Amino acid sequence: MSRSLVIAIDGPAASGKGTLARRLAAHYGLKHLDTGLTYRAVAALLLEEGGLGENGARAVAAAERLDLGAMDRDRLAAHEIGEAASRIAVIPELRRALVARQRDFAASPPGAVLDGRDIGTVVFPDAPAKLFVTASPEERARRRTDELVGRGQAVDFDAVLADLKRRDARDMERADSPLRPADDAHLIDTSAMTIEAAFRAAVAIVDRAVSAENRASPS
Ligand code: C5P
Repeated sequence: MSRSLVIAIDGPAASGKGTLARRLAAHYGLKHLDTGLTYRAVAALLLEEGGLGENGARAVAAAERLDLGAMDRDRLAAHEIGEAASRIAVIPELRRALVARQRDFAASPPGAVLDGRDIGTVVFPDAPAKLFVTASPEERARRRTDELVGRGQAVDFDAVLADLKRRDARDMERADSPLRPADDAHLIDTSAMTIEAAFRAAVAIVDRAVSAENRASPS
């Protein structure tokens, strides 16, 4: 592959987009960035330094010194950190700083798979392949509960469901870069799909998009 390929994957929490993104990155030989981790890592740094605060400048400084290669997925998976991440994700200056880091990450060959909330709409609006991955709130809450229990955290399904719905609302209703499918995104509803079936559907979509792009501008 001579050019950088970017595959943009968006969707709500626990929709399966992260698993899909990792599998697609391995399949196409691309780098992978879970952009949710970048918001979580900034939130974790701010919490360590005494609290989220109202001040965007502290969040921007944290975003600028973040080491994208050293984000500890296990530590950042904690429920409170996800909640804090979605609170600071409404700050426009922070979003601009993280979007710049995310674009830099994907710019060099061979390119990358990025998953998040605004990849197809804001970070890479010209990405040749865009997926919007969803699942019902109940199915997502079941997956998230299983995941947290697997990590040894005591959680209750109803609380997780209420929380996911609150987080969805915050992500979809914020003024800056709300969660929504790009007009040209392909929808994959994973509610009743195995990960294998979702992966095959995604590969078919990406293969078609890449060959259409190659026909339009041969390298
Ligand atoms: O995907 P994850 O649950 O790790 O994301 C945590 C929070 O970070 C989300 O609820 C969302 O508010 C924010 N986020 C975002 N834009 C992204 C990725 C995540 O606003 N591209």
